[in-house]
Amino acid sequence: MSRRVLTAVAWPYANGPRHIGHVSGFGVPADIFSRYMRMAGNDVLMVSGTDEHGTPILVQAEKEGVSPRDLADRYNRVIVEDLHALGLSYDLFTRTTTGNHYAVAQELFRTVHRNGYLVEQRTMGAISPSTGRTLPDRYIEGTCPICGSDGARGDQCDNCGNQLDATELKNPRSRINGETPKFVETEHFFLDLPALSDALGTWLQTRTGWRPNVLKFSLNLLDDVRPRAMTRDIDWGIPVPLEGWETNANKRLYVWFDAVIGYLSASVEWARRSGDPDAWRAWWNDPAARSSYFMGKDNITFHSQIWPAELLAYNGLGTRGGKPGDHGKLNLPTEVVSSEFLTMEGRKFSTSRSVVIYVRDFLERYDADALRYFIAVAGPETQDTDFTWAEFVRRNNDELVSTWGNLVNRTASMIAKNVGSIPPPGELAAGDRELLTLSGGAFGEVGGLIERHRQKQAIAAAMRVASEANVYLSQQAPWALKNTDPERMRTVLHVAAQVVDDTNRLLAPFLPHSSQHVHEALGRSGQVSPGPQIREVDDLDGGLSYPVITGDYADQGAWESQPVEIGHPVPTPTPVFTKLDPSVVDDELAMLEREAGG
Ligand code: MF3
Ligand code: ZN
Repeated sequence: MSRRVLTAVAWPYANGPRHIGHVSGFGVPADIFSRYMRMAGNDVLMVSGTDEHGTPILVQAEKEGVSPRDLADRYNRVIVEDLHALGLSYDLFTRTTTGNHYAVAQELFRTVHRNGYLVEQRTMGAISPSTGRTLPDRYIEGTCPICGSDGARGDQCDNCGNQLDATELKNPRSRINGETPKFVETEHFFLDLPALSDALGTWLQTRTGWRPNVLKFSLNLLDDVRPRAMTRDIDWGIPVPLEGWETNANKRLYVWFDAVIGYLSASVEWARRSGDPDAWRAWWNDPAARSSYFMGKDNITFHSQIWPAELLAYNGLGTRGGKPGDHGKLNLPTEVVSSEFLTMEGRKFSTSRSVVIYVRDFLERYDADALRYFIAVAGPETQDTDFTWAEFVRRNNDELVSTWGNLVNRTASMIAKNVGSIPPPGELAAGDRELLTLSGGAFGEVGGLIERHRQKQAIAAAMRVASEANVYLSQQAPWALKNTDPERMRTVLHVAAQVVDDTNRLLAPFLPHSSQHVHEALGRSGQVSPGPQIREVDDLDGGLSYPVITGDYADQGAWESQPVEIGHPVPTPTPVFTKLDPSVVDDELAMLEREAGG
């Protein structure tokens, strides 16, 4: 049955290029999920964009000596190009500095405020004594008052997961220059989480299928809820849409308040661009629609607490009551899918210490599908995972090239050489039927695993079909039958072609680029799993133009075995994957050492 599925992918900060750790945590898994869902006949809307407000942007702009706007423009473009090169099939990848996003974010703020869940409070804010400027919470570090860990930040302690107030940190110091911050009085709007916590608890308790640690972490957050400031003393961000505040250049919406609204505003922007401005409602107002949010584990709090709280407050479902605004009653997330972290050769990714490999540099040297394959089989799905060059080369050569590429190649070349087109089968033997049952039956298994976000098991099950097909070919030895039993040879090659086609569909969500190659190698036309495009668009509300990722994903292969077309010409194949020389490992390691050590 066709369902509406919203794939909501975490918004990368536009403060630098993305490295492979970023895309392995949410970009690639979200894309695999969306491509599969589309092939299975669902109506997918996959949205994201660059997150362009907040201190991460300001701090980097200062470092590079450019304005925050120029910085965001530059990295928005770089990120768009990189995510496109990886084949991430967004319906819309936009940015948070559009007129549309400002309007949607402000409408949400106004409604949540009108419903009574944004409460004005006087509070103590940190400033830097040396510059006189506001020091944002995340740039203060000190000792956690709850668990005693020394690396706590002013907004959160990563050790115990609790949200903090900078004023509570023991021994607070600036992460920018080490000085002790000064706390002065200031006014902000606080999201009244205590008034929403019962509703949040009820929602969380009805969640099924979440990874247990994510659900447990989210429920734990409810043990200690306090109002959280949703405005900041900062001059870069969305103006606070209330009288007396709107014109204050030094008060802005908190970046996390506006960023999560991006999921909704990007859906609205997509609909406005599609010619049906209300089309987004099918994913947001219809409770039957499913929404899956993809992110790294450091983002869980914002997606399982802050965003649902904003939505509940908008819908008027906390203890203060209220009613929805112009966007109508909005769906809360069906599921929050969080991955763990990727490390690099045993070390944490660190751009400052150059322990990093950027997506762009990676894709200059290796194929997108080689990276996607590694992420799918060996990524940080449920535990922190190490990327090593040795493992990357091994997986590429022994699995992608030897198992899958080789199967495609020997099948297509034998057919091209001995028949020239997809041969008709004679009578099927037991072994033929067994293999066909395996590949035809794998759709249910692999699809079910992807739906439950077990992508490692899913791709392993698909690769098992390829391995079995290799065993089958070796046993049947069709090359030896050419003169003795040509009909049997044709039957075996027919079965092999069918299984290659099935396996190719099973692998298409993971390996969309090479899948198209295989599809065509078997003489198929049309798309198996179409890719995204970059388009330069005008801001819908009068701002400057910008690049977006979008695509037309309507024409694609079905998620079920489709009989190969007997008689369709099969040309001599060209290799699908590139075998890597083992020297790659030493070269890459030397490069990493040079950069990290220098
Ligand atoms: N920019 C944030 C980060 O990189 C993620 C924002 S996800 C969003 O951690 F949905 F809130 F935008
Ligand atoms: Zn702590």
